[in-house]
Amino acid sequence: MNIKRLGIVLCFFVLFCALGVGYVYNQYVLMECCLKPGGFVLAAAAASEPLGVKRVLCVGGTAGIGYAVATSYLEHSNQVEVVVVGRRQPRIAPEFAGRLKFVPADLSKTSVARQTANSLKDEHFDIILFTVGFTPSGFNRTSESIETDLAISYLSRHVMLEQMFYNGLRSSRVFIMGFAGLPKQPALNDINWESVPYSFFHAHMNTHIFNEGLVHYYAHKTPSVSVFGLNPGLILSDGFRGLAGPVLSSLLAKVCPDQNEYAKAVLLPLFASQNLHSGSLFNNRGQEINPGPFFGRFPEDKAQIIVAGVNATLRDLGLQS
Ligand SMILES: NC(=O)c1ccc[n+]([C@@H]2O[C@H](COP(=O)([O-])OP(=O)(O)OC[C@H]3O[C@@H](n4cnc5c(N)ncnc54)[C@H](OP(=O)(O)O)[C@@H]3O)[C@@H](O)[C@H]2O)c1
Repeated sequence: MNIKRLGIVLCFFVLFCALGVGYVYNQYVLMECCLKPGGFVLAAAAASEPLGVKRVLCVGGTAGIGYAVATSYLEHSNQVEVVVVGRRQPRIAPEFAGRLKFVPADLSKTSVARQTANSLKDEHFDIILFTVGFTPSGFNRTSESIETDLAISYLSRHVMLEQMFYNGLRSSRVFIMGFAGLPKQPALNDINWESVPYSFFHAHMNTHIFNEGLVHYYAHKTPSVSVFGLNPGLILSDGFRGLAGPVLSSLLAKVCPDQNEYAKAVLLPLFASQNLHSGSLFNNRGQEINPGPFFGRFPEDKAQIIVAGVNATLRDLGLQS
């Protein structure tokens, strides 16, 4: 076999493996073992129910799933206003002008995350969705000396929520997108990778487990605000398409939902559903799933350990008093 042929065969092999991984991953997220017995299940009819929402905040809503949620709300009703936070100005269709507000912010900096929360403190939101996230390509630190994945995919949410609650956040529903229910243990002894050798995998898994921790922590601590976790499985989002490239994306489209489909059919109806219990986690069909094994039967205790560890790291870096 010549080199060219071998290259083509290898390319197909990689594409099929990726397709298989996408399919298996999405099936796993939907498996019975993950579902919470007797937990909430989104009814198929819910997509046509009224949403009862007037103001929405999407942190990380300039692209991807957050943007799909923002535009789905704006399309659904001209009574809804959406604020999106991110670095890049999103495309604003003329019919949404005046109802889609862009707040520019690089949330990799905790100081910016805090300022952004403060800048929104006098606004009421029915729904607050955190989709800000990033897939790292290697080890980097932000200008505040925080490992970049930790900073963007987790701390941005941790710091904004802390500031929002400090500012008196009330009666919103908060949804945190990550990989809720992840069957992994966190690496907690050096979360900013100061002395332990960096592991891309563990660093990224930590951000997902920590995000689930935020759900349990605030669900327990703040009864006036309901907090929920989301596990989208594999969704063909703007970010995901950018990573996968056009060929793989068009193949994955056969086995993974697209961001707009997911927003319209699952997220908006789920956000409007009554009978959700704060602290619940949902898969990409709006079915309630079990907490990850790390959180076990007392999720708030484990969440407390994570939040305390992160706060200690922030204090060591002089980023929290
Ligand atoms: N898509 C999936 O299959 C999948 C699977 C599991 C979990 N998730 C989680 O779901 C969330 C959303 O994923 P997605 O696929 O929709 O992501 P995406 O398409 O890459 O969108 C990410 C959003 O985060 C914003 N963002 C990134 N870095 C930022 C920064 N430094 N400051 C402020 N905003 C920043 C981006 O806006 P700017 O570029 O304008 O800053 C964009 O609005 C992520 O947390 C991801 O981990 C996704």
